[in-house]
Amino acid sequence: MPLQIEQFMCRSDNFGILARDTGTGETVLIDAPEEGPILEAVERTGWTPTMILTTHHHLDHVEANLALKERFGLKIVGPAAEASKIPGLDEAVKEGDLIRVGGQQARVIETPGHTAGHVSYYFPQAGVAFTADTLFALGCGRLFECGPSVMLESLKKLAALPPETVVHCGHEYTQANARFALTVDPDNSELKKRAETIDQLRAEGKPTLPTTIGQELATNPFLRWHDPGIRRHLGMEDASDADVFAEIRKRKDAF
Ligand SMILES: [Fe+2]
Repeated sequence: MPLQIEQFMCRSDNFGILARDTGTGETVLIDAPEEGPILEAVERTGWTPTMILTTHHHLDHVEANLALKERFGLKIVGPAAEASKIPGLDEAVKEGDLIRVGGQQARVIETPGHTAGHVSYYFPQAGVAFTADTLFALGCGRLFECGPSVMLESLKKLAALPPETVVHCGHEYTQANARFALTVDPDNSELKKRAETIDQLRAEGKPTLPTTIGQELATNPFLRWHDPGIRRHLGMEDASDADVFAEIRKRKDAF
């Protein structure tokens, strides 16, 4: 594996992530939700981060930026569209930009929807994507700053990544997401099986992440707007992708 990943909990349900290029040892943080657990992870692994790859401006993703910058002198990378809202930002990035992390490169994918400037980071060589609050396991982020059609286009970009791509997300929301997913896709046997696995993992206090693009395509209703079973269940057989997606998002908001 060209990228070693240490995933740990921050705050109540945020994931902290350290990702280390195996060849060179260069390590980056994906977002900075909380200083204490991040310092513990650095101590535990011995991996000192040189950069934070910021996905979006929400406080639970940037709160430790300045403290970590002061401690480690690290560089903070984040979306150009939210540059003024990201504490300590050094490098503003846009769609298609490449960020060198040791011997490999991370590609910036603009994934607006949850916030207007949200970005995801994709490491093609390692086959890993960090999608934060855009794509969750069995869910997607709430639409705080954009309409559903914007989020749909972002999810389409992520859905087009290779199915074996490993996906790390911003929050441990999977169990609640599974409960909702079963209400719109009740006949999906793979989803039912996955929901059981998730319940078991949570009962053991284990994380449900990472996931893969392939697993999400098969079970995440927010990537299944085209699915005849879901459309039938919603009574929306002939509706547009955007309308089906918007309906699923609306139902989740009220769930
Ligand atoms: Fe967020």
